[in-house]
Amino acid sequence: MARIVLGLGLAHTPQVHTAPEQWHQRLEADHRNKSLWFRGQAYDWKGLVDARAGENLASQAEPAERQARHARANAAVAAVAQAWRDARPDVAVILGNDQHELFVEDLMPAFTIFWGKELQNLPSTTEQIARKPAGIHLAHHGHAPPQPLSHPGEPELGRHLIERAMADGFDVAQSQWLREADQRISFSSGIPHAFGFVYRNVMGDQVPPNVPVIINTFFPPNQPTAARCLALGRSIGRAIASWQQDLRVAVIGSGGLSHFVVDETFDRAFLAALVRADHEALVHHPEPWFQAGTSECKNWIAAAGALEGANLQARVVDYVPCYRSEAGTGTGAGFVVWS
Ligand SMILES: [Fe+2]
Repeated sequence: MARIVLGLGLAHTPQVHTAPEQWHQRLEADHRNKSLWFRGQAYDWKGLVDARAGENLASQAEPAERQARHARANAAVAAVAQAWRDARPDVAVILGNDQHELFVEDLMPAFTIFWGKELQNLPSTTEQIARKPAGIHLAHHGHAPPQPLSHPGEPELGRHLIERAMADGFDVAQSQWLREADQRISFSSGIPHAFGFVYRNVMGDQVPPNVPVIINTFFPPNQPTAARCLALGRSIGRAIASWQQDLRVAVIGSGGLSHFVVDETFDRAFLAALVRADHEALVHHPEPWFQAGTSECKNWIAAAGALEGANLQARVVDYVPCYRSEAGTGTGAGFVVWS
C-alpha cells in the first residue's frame, strides 16, 4: 500500500526570485489595483494606506529589511528542498492553482486532476514576455526552465484519485495533457507556476512521477469554498492510502499565504492551526477572506486535509512577511514541513 511520508506547504511568490531592490517594480500595479483584498474587504491603494496607517509598515519595507527578508525566504525554500531530499518520496501529489495559464475564460474548472503521462514546464515565449505586467518576468526562472523540460505524470494514481473523488461526491474535471496556452491571454505555457515553482525549487528539476491537482482558487464565480477544499483533500488522502502500490508519497500545497496584501495576524493563526492540526480553524473565515493571492491558502488547506491520516507533524520552517510598501502589499511567505 502507498504511504504518505512527507507534507510540504510553501509560498511560490515571485518575490523569492526577484532581487529586493526590484520589488518596487510591482508597485505600479499595486497603485492601480482597485481590489486590494484585506480581511475580507477590497480596498483601493489610498483606502488601504489609510486603513493600515497605524501599523508602521513603511519601516518594514525599507531596503535593509527587504534584503534580510528576501534572504530568509530563500533559506526557507532551501530548507523545504532539503526536507524533500531527506524524505526520498517516489511520487508527489501537488495541490496548486492556475492563474490564467492553462485555463482562461473559455473554461475554468473548479477542480482538475491531471492523470496524463507527461507534463511540460516551458519558458515563456517572446510574445508572452512582452505582455507581462511590470516586474513579473524578473522571477520567470523561479518557476520555468530556460529550455523546455518534460516530467513524468503518474496516470495510475491520478486516475485512482479521480475515481475516489467521484465516489466521494466531487465531480472533478480530468486532464491527460496540458492544453496549449491561449496566446492572446496567457503569460506562460505548460504547467502553471504553482507547480513549476515546486519542480524547480523543491525538486531541482529532478521531478518524480506526480499528480497535479489544480484548484480554481482565484477566479469567481466558481471558486470552491475553503471547506470544500478541505473535504477534497481528505478524499485525496484516503485515496492515496488505498492505492495498491508500495510507494512513498509526498503531498504538497503550493502558494499563499496572504497576498497581495500581507496580513500577519491571519497568516500566523493559519500556521498555528496547521501545527495543532486544527483544520476546522483553517476554514472558519468567510470566503471574502480568501480572495486574490490569499486564495492560494486553499491549496494548503486541501493538502492539510490529505495529510490528516498520515500521522505526520507539521512544523513551521519560517514565516517571512515580505512587504514592498507602506500599504502592506507584498507576500506573507510561509513554509511548513509535515514529517
Ligand atoms: Fe500564485
